[in-house]
Amino acid sequence: MRELKEKIMSEGIVLSEHVLKVDSFLNHQMDPVLMKKIGEAFAEKFRDKKITKVITIESSGIGPALMTAYELGVPLIFARKRKSLTLNSDLYISKVYSFTKQEESEITISRKFIDCSDSVLIIDDFLANGQAALGLIDMIQQAKAQVVGIGIVIEKAFQDGGRILRERGIKVESLAQIASLSDGKVRFVEEALA
Ligand code: G4P
Ligand code: NA
Ligand code: NA
Repeated sequence: MRELKEKIMSEGIVLSEHVLKVDSFLNHQMDPVLMKKIGEAFAEKFRDKKITKVITIESSGIGPALMTAYELGVPLIFARKRKSLTLNSDLYISKVYSFTKQEESEITISRKFIDCSDSVLIIDDFLANGQAALGLIDMIQQAKAQVVGIGIVIEKAFQDGGRILRERGIKVESLAQIASLSDGKVRFVEEALA
C-alpha cells in the first residue's frame, strides 16, 4: 500500500535491526485518514470471504481493525490482555509468548462474542514471530469458528511469523512487508527482490 510505505519512510524510526518505531501514526498517535485507507484496503482483499467478525488484540490492533470492520459492516472484537490467572468459564483464554518483550501473557475473549457460526478475519498492526496471531487462532478454534484470513499492517518478513502462518494454509495479507531494518534503513520486500 503506497500511502503506508510513504508514511513508514517519512515517519518510521529504525530503533534496531529488529524494531521499527511508528508511534506517530500507528502505535501511539494514530492517523485516522491513513487508518481509514488501511480499513478499505483490508476490506477489498477479504470482501469475498463472507466475514462475520473482525478480531484483534488490544491495543494497537484496534485502530486498523475497527476501520476494517466498519468497511465490512461487521463487529470488531478485541482480545484483552491480562496478567493474572483466575479461572473463568465465560472466557476463551490463550497464552501468548512475546519474543520481543520476553514475557508471557494471557489473552481472553468472552464466549458471548464468537461461536461456531462465525467466519473471522484477524487484523493486527505488526507481524513479527506470529505468536499473537497464533493465540487468536487458538481462541477462534476453541469457539469452533472459522479463520478466513489475517490482515497485517506491517509484516517484518525477516522474522518467522509470516512463514509459520502461511504454512498453515492461512491467507495472510500484509500492507507493507519489511525485508530488513539493517544499517538503520527500512527496505521493503519488493526492493529486496528488485
Ligand atoms: P508476534 O506476536 O508476531 O510474535 O510479535 P511479538 O510478540 O514479538 O510482539 C510483541 C509486541 O511488540 C506487540 O505489541 C507487537 O505489535 C509489537 N511489535 C513487534 N515488532 C515490532 C516492531 O518492529 N515495531 C513496533 N512498533 N512494534 C512491534 P503489543 O505488546 O501487543 O502492544 P500494543 O502496541 O498492541 O499495545
Ligand atoms: Na503493537
Ligand atoms: Na498488536
